[in-house]
Amino acid sequence: MNIVRVKDYQDMSRHACQRIIATIKEQANPVLGLATGSTPEGMYQCLIEAFNKGEVSFRDVSTFNLDEYVGLAPSDPNSYNYFMQDKLFSHIDIDQSQVHLPNGNTGDNQQECKDYEASVHQANEIDLQVLGIGLNGHIGFNEPGTPFSSRTHVVELDASTREANARFFEKKEDVPTHAITMGIATIMDSKEILLLISGEKKAEAVKRLLENDEISEDFPASILRKHDNITVIIDEAAGSLLAD
Ligand code: PGA
Repeated sequence: MNIVRVKDYQDMSRHACQRIIATIKEQANPVLGLATGSTPEGMYQCLIEAFNKGEVSFRDVSTFNLDEYVGLAPSDPNSYNYFMQDKLFSHIDIDQSQVHLPNGNTGDNQQECKDYEASVHQANEIDLQVLGIGLNGHIGFNEPGTPFSSRTHVVELDASTREANARFFEKKEDVPTHAITMGIATIMDSKEILLLISGEKKAEAVKRLLENDEISEDFPASILRKHDNITVIIDEAAGSLLAD
């Protein structure tokens, strides 16, 4: 793992943004894996600013998001589809037909999982996958106990994950109970991974990820140590429990 220690959220976002721009410039048809949540928002803002300054174009970029709630229409403000349009896609020159998120509202989730997995492979895998980490070590919505061999599948969300995401909803009970997520094996197939971690709340997870040698399905992110091209960007608060 390539570890990059940065000062704060802004620094982390800027680093990640530069890495994405570099990937877009290196590849003829870049395939990006994207994430939702608070962590990548600053990075998306930075990408929009770079686009507005004419520093990058997304014309030839395809994207695949990690996950989506089950039961929310893409137009629902709490859906990840809406989040991505709002935070990034509607502000840049990406071809909307090249934007992919699982659809948790088709009525046939199993088929949707198969189709989504197939579309990632058809795109010749993801060049750069952006990841955050959950307090319990989840990546995407792959909660503890998810097999490392998993492909895109339906998950029941952990109580802690629903609690953590309740801030985006009017009422805690409104947080969906299920989601569709890329599997851990799907994520591991990405050619490069960028894991972003910011804030004191994530300090325990960072310590477990970097200072515990055990690779276990109890802590899904631990598998990332086996990826041969991963960069972890950690700010001071997230790294505050590390020994050095
Ligand atoms: P966050 O979520 O970016 O909102 O902290 C990350 C995650 O749960 O994977």
